[in-house]
Amino acid sequence: MIHAIAHIEFNAINLAIDAVYRYPEMPEGFHADWIDVAADEARHFELLRGRLAEAGAAYGDFPAHDGLWDMALRTRHDPLARMALVPRVMEARGLDVTPGIMRKFSGIGDDATVKVLELILREEIGHVEAGTRWFHHLCARRHLEPEATYFSLLREYLHGEIRCPLHHAARRDAGFSENELKRLEELCAKH
Ligand SMILES: [Fe+2]
Ligand SMILES: [Fe+2]
Repeated sequence: MIHAIAHIEFNAINLAIDAVYRYPEMPEGFHADWIDVAADEARHFELLRGRLAEAGAAYGDFPAHDGLWDMALRTRHDPLARMALVPRVMEARGLDVTPGIMRKFSGIGDDATVKVLELILREEIGHVEAGTRWFHHLCARRHLEPEATYFSLLREYLHGEIRCPLHHAARRDAGFSENELKRLEELCAKH
C-alpha cells in the first residue's frame, strides 16, 4: 500500500512539472503554483520512501500502474482538460480515499504512516484548489461556463464514470461547489 501511494506521489511530481513545461502560454502564477505543487509532491514521495525503507523495501520493488501518466498524455494538448482531469479528478480522488487508508494503518498501529498521510491529505487539498482556480481562470478566458464544461470533460474523458463516496469537506475546501458534489454523486449512482 505504501509503495502504491509512493508511486502516485512520484507521478505527481512529474505531472506538476509537466504542467509547468507544457503550457508556456499560461500566466506566471500558474507556473509558480505547479512548481510549489511539485515541491510538495517530492516531499510526499520522500516521506513515503522513508516509510518503505523502515519496512525494508524501496520504490521500484513492486509493480505499478500507469494510469496517472496516461491522463497526462491524454490531456497534453489543453491546460483546461489537464486541470479538470488531473487535479480535479485524480488528485481529488486522493482526498476521498485517504481517510479510509489512514484508518487501515491506524488499525495495524502504524502511526508514523498515519502522520505522513495526514500531512499529504492537508497539502493535497491545496493542489486540488489550485486546479479549481486555474480551471476557472481558463473557463473565464474562453467564455465557458465552468460547471457545464467540467461535466462535459468528465463525459468525454471518463464516460462519466466517477467513483464515490466523496470527501465532501475536503472537496469543498478545494473549491468544489455543492452542485458539483451533487452531480458527481448522481454520476456514481448511474455506474
Ligand atoms: Fe502528493
Ligand atoms: Fe498532489
